[in-house]
This record gives sequence, C-alpha cells and structure tokens, in this order.
Amino acid sequence: MQVAISALHLRLWHAGDARTMRALLKRMVTPMNHNRSFSFAIIYLAATLLGTVAQAQAPEDLAAGLRIFTQKGDCQACHGWAGDGRKMDSQMPDGANLRALKIDRETLIQTIRCGRHGTGMPAFDRLAYSDGRCFGLKAADLRARGLTLTDPPATLQLNEFNLLADFLIAKVIGKGPINRTQCIDYWGSDVAACKELGQ
Ligand code: HEC
Repeated sequence: MQVAISALHLRLWHAGDARTMRALLKRMVTPMNHNRSFSFAIIYLAATLLGTVAQAQAPEDLAAGLRIFTQKGDCQACHGWAGDGRKMDSQMPDGANLRALKIDRETLIQTIRCGRHGTGMPAFDRLAYSDGRCFGLKAADLRARGLTLTDPPATLQLNEFNLLADFLIAKVIGKGPINRTQCIDYWGSDVAACKELGQ
C-alpha cells in the first residue's frame, strides 16, 4: 500500500499539482478497505488521467516558460514581450517576429540552443560550440570562418529549453498579431499592455 501511494504521489508530483493530489488521496483512501486491488486500479487510472490532463495544460509550466522568455532568457529585449519583434529597447538587435513564424519544435529548440551567426541571435546552450552539437561546429571553427555570435543574457538548462518551447508553441509561434484576448491569456490577467489592444 505504501508503495502504491508513493507511486501515485510521484506521478502527481510530476504533474505538478500537489493540491489536487492530496484532495484525491483523501477521497480515495477512505473507501479502500473493501476491495483493495480494485481501489488501487481506480486510483492508478485516475492518477494517469490526471497526469495526462495536467501535462496538456500545466498552467504553471506555461508560466515558467513565460518567465524564461521575459526574464532569464530576456528574449523579449530583442523580440518584444509578445514575440512580435516590437521591442521596447531600440539599442537591442531587431529580433524576428516569432508570431509570424512557421517552425517545428525541434528547429525552434535548435535555433535557441545554437543561435544564429552574424545576426544578433545568441546561443543559449552553454556547450553550443564546445563539442560539435550545433551544426558540427566548435568555437575554433567559428573563429576560423569569421562567424560571430552575440553573448546570451544567460544560458539555459535542458528543462528550460523544453518549458520555453512549450510556452512559445502554445502562445506565440504562428499566432499572428496579438489581440486583446490573446494578451489577457498571455499574461494571465488584463494588464495595462492589453488595454490598448483591439479585440
Ligand atoms: C540580443 C538579441 C536577441 C535575444 C536576447 C534573443 N534573440 Fe532571437 N533572434 C534575434 C535576432 C536578431 C534574430 C534574427 C535572426 C535572423 O535574422 O535570422 C533572432 C531569431 C530568432 C529565431 C529564429 C526566427 C526565424 O526566422 O527562424 C527564434 C526562434 C528566436 N530568435 C527565439 C529567441 C528566443 C526564444 C530567445 C530567448 C531565449 C531569443 N530569441 C533571444 C535576436 C535575439
């Protein structure tokens, strides 16, 4: 029993919803005396379903992705907070309009990890040009070919690339010019930036 509960614990913890998990456990554990294995089967099923749903939506994961975009990765400095290329700081390089972009997840992550030589798009993988993982090039190759890369504001970890990509695909990539509804969804509330946008 201890093992099953711990497994459930882990699953839901992974899904990132500790509160729902505790509530569910409380409800499930009580009627378990009659038919234990049956109850476990139900719990497992519920946990799996919950895990799937949480994975698909995971608002806290999207919020983490937003934070990487606006803060740690400072993507917004060059791409604008909405990712549409309308940046606030005119001193920064002009980032691409990510809202007009058609790009698959793999290429997106590769672009963020490896950057774009000679364009102002930094490489966010600390090891990008150390072992050939980016286009088979190392730092010495870049120098030899006269390719330059902008320094990133910070480097990101594997799970941060994934959170960032999930966020961008859900809210930014290919979504077109941002409107008021999307803006409120993006920030999670009707912030000042949304008030001046049309529906
Ligand atoms: C210092 C400025 C700067 C920062 C910071 C920056 N970018 Fe960029 N980014 C650029 C520029 C400039 C380009 C355009 C490259 C080009 O012309 O091909 C670009 C291009 C891109 C592209 C490729 C667009 C295409 O046309 O395929 C993606 C995707 C992208 N950036 C995502 C990001 C993300 C995500 C972050 C944050 C982790 C980020 N960028 C941070 C400047 C920046």
